[in-house]
Amino acid sequence: KIAPVLMAGGSGTRLWPVSRKRFPKQFAPLIGDETLFQASARRLSGASYAEPIVMTNADFRFIVAEQLDQIGIQPGAIVIEPSGRNTAPAVLAAALMVAETDPERLLLVAPSDHVIPDADAFARAVEQGIPAAQAGQIVTFGITPDRPETGYGYLELAGQGEGPQPLARFVEKPDAATAEAMLAQGNFLWNAGIFLFSARAMIDAFRTHAPEFIDPVQAALTEARNDLGFLRLARGPWDKLPDLSIDYAVMEKAGNLSAVRFSGRWSDLGGWDALWREELLQNPAADGVVTGPNATAIDCRDVLLRSDSEDVEVVGIGLSDLMVVATPDAVLVADKDRAQDVRLAVSALKQKR
Ligand code: GDD
Ligand code: MG
Repeated sequence: KIAPVLMAGGSGTRLWPVSRKRFPKQFAPLIGDETLFQASARRLSGASYAEPIVMTNADFRFIVAEQLDQIGIQPGAIVIEPSGRNTAPAVLAAALMVAETDPERLLLVAPSDHVIPDADAFARAVEQGIPAAQAGQIVTFGITPDRPETGYGYLELAGQGEGPQPLARFVEKPDAATAEAMLAQGNFLWNAGIFLFSARAMIDAFRTHAPEFIDPVQAALTEARNDLGFLRLARGPWDKLPDLSIDYAVMEKAGNLSAVRFSGRWSDLGGWDALWREELLQNPAADGVVTGPNATAIDCRDVLLRSDSEDVEVVGIGLSDLMVVATPDAVLVADKDRAQDVRLAVSALKQKR
């Protein structure tokens, strides 16, 4: 069975005020009834999967345990990273854990903050990648790009046709001109941030391309202790690790990459505009109005109105091109085209405190 590894240690400042430092977006019911984390855990459950390994930090451990319990999923392990060192150390730690029992075992690493509505299409894509992963490839999943997004990684396909393709190149977060050029060239996909590989292949890739991670991560695991059922990695070695994502540490350098094209819908819900688009796809509305449960729009056009508090009702009258998001203690009112700037609000508030 595949070992699912859920990355749940990040924060999403662009979805403030719903996403908070101590309660980031993956744990909030942003779309539908379940949280993004719960939907991700469910996607990686079932007959082909073992119990999930969740990589997170001390702040989120009880949220993770509770949200898994709510949907009846028993975790294989909830691993506490003593400090945020981005995804490279977390991925290596999971690979080393799995390798202890079986180095050939496959891991599927996935973010916990994405929207992938078609679970069957996703399962088929994973299925397609299995033989390549068993043969020692690191399998990525590619999305057909529709804009020169600079916040994603790009996968350059070396071949054509159906099924897993060898990759010529992995380019993490290109600048705008490079992204434009890749889009024009046509043989690039966005990296969905999901990876399928054997424990051995990932450990070997680190040995070759990022050997400085191996000893500290191994030490953090060896000295880890069981803390109320959570696996708390040892802080000493962990704090010495570089702060680096798996994309920069390994993917940009590895030669044994393949890609499976994922044609189902995928959104990384990077901001309120992405959530807005996703809601409109799920429930089309000609006037572009998306309202949450505690919100009412009267004569509005192209607005997102939501309140994540039952105690706060939001009403918009005659508005257009606005996003309004209310919570019990904060309200965001922003121009529709400024979704990416919501992170500025978070920094501004930090300065004030
Ligand atoms: N456990 C753990 N520890 N998880 C983390 C950490 C950490 O220190 N840092 C981030 N994560 C989690 C996030 O919560 C998210 O689920 C996932 O790892 C990816 O991190 P992001 O910070 O969201 O990465 P990104 O969006 O900038 O880029 C990645 O995803 C894109 C697609 O959404 C890259 O893989 C890109 O290449 C890719 O296109
Ligand atoms: Mg992301």
